[in-house]
Amino acid sequence: MSDTRSRPVRRAGGKAKRQTVGGSERGSNFPVVFIGALIAVVLAVVLLLTVAADSISGDGKPVGPSGDASSTATAEATATAGGPTSTVGAQTSTKTPEPTPGADGSILVACGDILAPLDKQHRLAADCAPNDLRQVAGGAYLRAEAAVALGEMFAAGKQEKGFDFYVNSGYRSYQEQVNTYNYWVQTSGQAYADRTSARPGHSEHQLGTTADVAARGLELEAFGGTAEAAWVAANAYKFGFVVSYPDGKEAITGYASEPWHIRYVGKGVTQQVKDSGLTLHEFLLK
Ligand code: DAL
Ligand code: ZN
Repeated sequence: MSDTRSRPVRRAGGKAKRQTVGGSERGSNFPVVFIGALIAVVLAVVLLLTVAADSISGDGKPVGPSGDASSTATAEATATAGGPTSTVGAQTSTKTPEPTPGADGSILVACGDILAPLDKQHRLAADCAPNDLRQVAGGAYLRAEAAVALGEMFAAGKQEKGFDFYVNSGYRSYQEQVNTYNYWVQTSGQAYADRTSARPGHSEHQLGTTADVAARGLELEAFGGTAEAAWVAANAYKFGFVVSYPDGKEAITGYASEPWHIRYVGKGVTQQVKDSGLTLHEFLLK
């Protein structure tokens, strides 16, 4: 079943316009034509430098504005190989969401902003991918700062309770979310899929700061109700994580309870979320 509501929207500003320099066949106009051509070449160089600078500024993503979903594989491969060592903080953008409604009416949020609201009304561009992914327990990948914080949380769970946590699913590219969402549509139907799986571009997993935590082979629904899940619910905030979809909040978040799905927002922010009594979804939209 095709999903026209989540069609990816590419950012504006792809290729630089090609500058053409006028011909100079007429010998009598040679000095004028030559100077004109020279000015045009200088302008073209300035334009190209400006476009190049734009493409590497802001969120600092490895994919350019003309990239597509397949380029995320490159980002992940880079991370696997050790890649750049920049932290989440260094990549965090304070940009406000760009008011660019897509075909589904949802708003495109800034790539690289770990506090970007992501729900059924807000989405990431298809080519948005982290460039500082690190492997965590279980083999999944998270952005560097989130990976460190999760390692600390897992170590605390081990020390306090003897729990052996691992990550069942971490960073998911846009294309992986296409596959994930389609899998749920095909196996459980559209209505169930929309309660439990984000449409492509709308998943917090694409941020690279979100983990589905598991233990003892108990994953997803099977993780719910375990002692480990209760410990995560009570302690995740100490390490900068929030359970995004708490029980009883489906009408607000749009998703059924997911006690395994935690998103990294930083310790200072988790304390504020806790104090507010709001879901992360509501807090980020304030
Ligand atoms: N299961 C959550 C909603 C996701 O797909 O991101
Ligand atoms: Zn999840």
